[in-house]
Amino acid sequence: MTKPLNAELLRSTFQLVTEREPAITGRFYEILFERYPQVRPLFGGNSARAQQEMLQGALVAVIEHLEDTNWLASTLAALGRKHVAYGVTREMFDWVGEALLATLAEVAKDAWNHEVAQAWQDAYEAIRDLMLVGMVIEVPPIESASAVITAAVQSP
Ligand code: HEM
Repeated sequence: MTKPLNAELLRSTFQLVTEREPAITGRFYEILFERYPQVRPLFGGNSARAQQEMLQGALVAVIEHLEDTNWLASTLAALGRKHVAYGVTREMFDWVGEALLATLAEVAKDAWNHEVAQAWQDAYEAIRDLMLVGMVIEVPPIESASAVITAAVQSP
């Protein structure tokens, strides 16, 4: 992880937000689908349950393991790997991050400030990067894999 995460601040805002709005997930999807309707078809038949689990359950688990980098790396790489099959792309992580922060800000209201926003931005980016590791390892596209090898061979 590149930056140390502000565990205390993340935990206190998450607690405040989930106390005020126990089902933040519903509002998150509203914002996500309103801003990026193109992702809606990805959420298929069993979406109600999966959607409930997505983010909220994962965030709770991440918040509980903020100091356990081994757990974070292995769990999030495995979670990222699953997202390949869902049709998730790199760009969509920015959309989900934006919707997540907008949801937290909306519920936290006056408790949301620059420092809190930065702590969540850093945490989301760390989660995203660990998930992307799992996505890349699972499906190296032939072209990019050979481009990497060519570049490695050609570099002095
Ligand atoms: C921090 C980033 C993310 C986290 C923590 C996360 C977490 C999860 C979790 C825990 C599941 C539950 C299903 C399972 O275990 O297989 C899931 C499913 C799913 N996620 Fe994510 N996810 C993230 C980012 C994204 C992004 C960027 C997209 C793109 C829109 C996305 C789309 C989906 C879809 C389509 C499913 C399956 C839903 C279904 O089966 O209907 N996720 N996610």
